[in-house]
Amino acid sequence: MNSDSDLQIAGDILEVPHLLQAPREHPATVAEFAGLARSIAADRSQWEHLVRYDATSRWYHRLRTGPGYEVWLLSWVPGQGSGPHDHGRSSGVLTVLDGTLTERAGRGTRALTAGAQRVFAPGYVHEVVNDALEPAVSLHIYYPGLTEMPMHTRPHCEARTAPGPVTA
Ligand SMILES: [Fe+2]
Repeated sequence: MNSDSDLQIAGDILEVPHLLQAPREHPATVAEFAGLARSIAADRSQWEHLVRYDATSRWYHRLRTGPGYEVWLLSWVPGQGSGPHDHGRSSGVLTVLDGTLTERAGRGTRALTAGAQRVFAPGYVHEVVNDALEPAVSLHIYYPGLTEMPMHTRPHCEARTAPGPVTA
């Protein structure tokens, strides 16, 4: 018995469903966006048949949209990369679905294997490249949807005006 409070729940709370929060249809927090990406990653039937590989330009496909957010599927053949860029005013979650991608950012370089996730805030500058010998597939959620992707010059400090790829 908790003597600090007079409030007690009598009986089984599951018997009073009006006291429980209804599950949200769309993600609204960083954890929920990361969870959405993990659930898509775990269900290959949602994306595997859609993946194409294009050696001439990086392939991307808008997998779904929701209120204020977009989910993109990208493929990377060996050697393909995004170039240094930021994501305008969008936040994002990058999740590797297949293969290994290398992320270069101000704090160093990291290898992202299948299942790895990176969450970034507006203004985050990075470069993503497939340095491996096998193709890679990644999932990108942007909130709000990506409207610009300013390219940067190395070492990831100064924006330039040249247009860049649509998503990364
Ligand atoms: Fe990016």
